[in-house]
Amino acid sequence: MYFPEARPRRLRRTEKLRGMVRETSLSVNDLIYPLFAIHGKNVKKEVPSMPGIFQLSLEHLVLEAGEAYSNGIPAVLLFGIPGKKDSLGSDAYSDDGIVQQAVAKIKKEVPDLIVITDVCMCEYTDHGHCGVIDADGSVNNDATLELLAKSAVSHTRAGADIVAPSDMMDGRVMAIRDSLDEEGFINTPIMSYAAKYASAFYGPFRDAAESTPKFGDRRSYQMDPPNVREAIREVSLDIEEGADIVMVKPALAYLDVISLVRERFDVPVAAYNVSGEYSVVKAAAMKGWIDEERIVMEVLTGIKRAGADLIITYFAKVAAKVLGGK
Ligand code: PBG
Repeated sequence: MYFPEARPRRLRRTEKLRGMVRETSLSVNDLIYPLFAIHGKNVKKEVPSMPGIFQLSLEHLVLEAGEAYSNGIPAVLLFGIPGKKDSLGSDAYSDDGIVQQAVAKIKKEVPDLIVITDVCMCEYTDHGHCGVIDADGSVNNDATLELLAKSAVSHTRAGADIVAPSDMMDGRVMAIRDSLDEEGFINTPIMSYAAKYASAFYGPFRDAAESTPKFGDRRSYQMDPPNVREAIREVSLDIEEGADIVMVKPALAYLDVISLVRERFDVPVAAYNVSGEYSVVKAAAMKGWIDEERIVMEVLTGIKRAGADLIITYFAKVAAKVLGGK
């Protein structure tokens, strides 16, 4: 047999060397853990399509936030389930709304945990859309901006460290930035859901947040899954308007979008490993078909390798445990 002299060789690795040449390392510092706050006392209601994820009333919410923090998770993303919904989603911007109460309590009990609030109308409107609905059933973009800005200000007043608009209305980053600045919150960053696709992977979240639209769908304001150039345009507009961190959502079917956004822009990139991505892994794990911990680490490392600096994931506690947080 002929062996050319300069035959290329692959690196044979010992465990130690494997660690030294590893190109991507997931850290607990990359993780953001979503939480669902609900009114009431002693409520801990498991979301049927998301085993292990709960709607939590404030005393449970604070315990969960505290546990995440002591596992080394630096940040949570808060969603609220209001007591009452109406056509203008007024609980979203009421000073004693569920998210406002939850932020205040978490910041009091776990002050060093970064609290990010989701800013959107869909959990608060009786029709389940992300904005104000006109007589013809369409979403009124500009009327919605005012309500989003009010919500962001009231979250920040309650103590939110970062606000995260997820509605996909045009101009909302600028509207929120202006209102925050006017109120003196010039240092509060905005993490925008910049490239948010109209995805079937949000199904279980809509169970969790009770936000399934009562009519129609969100395709008129969320992105069409086949498009990637459009994602670049969405991200660049959000950055121009003042977004500090941009997000791609969902993550797994959109890794190419994450890579491209990472390549084209210099701001931190977040990826949302969404509810449906959680549920499919969880369901297979519960059937004993896959090894949950290994799959979780592989998925999250893949999202990081694609270019995400931050990963929002319902698996944050599982990953933190593997990564050796306390
Ligand atoms: C909208 C919002 C959604 C998610 C986060 N913010 C749902 C939607 O647009 O229908 C989805 C998150 C997930 O699926 O985990 N407020």
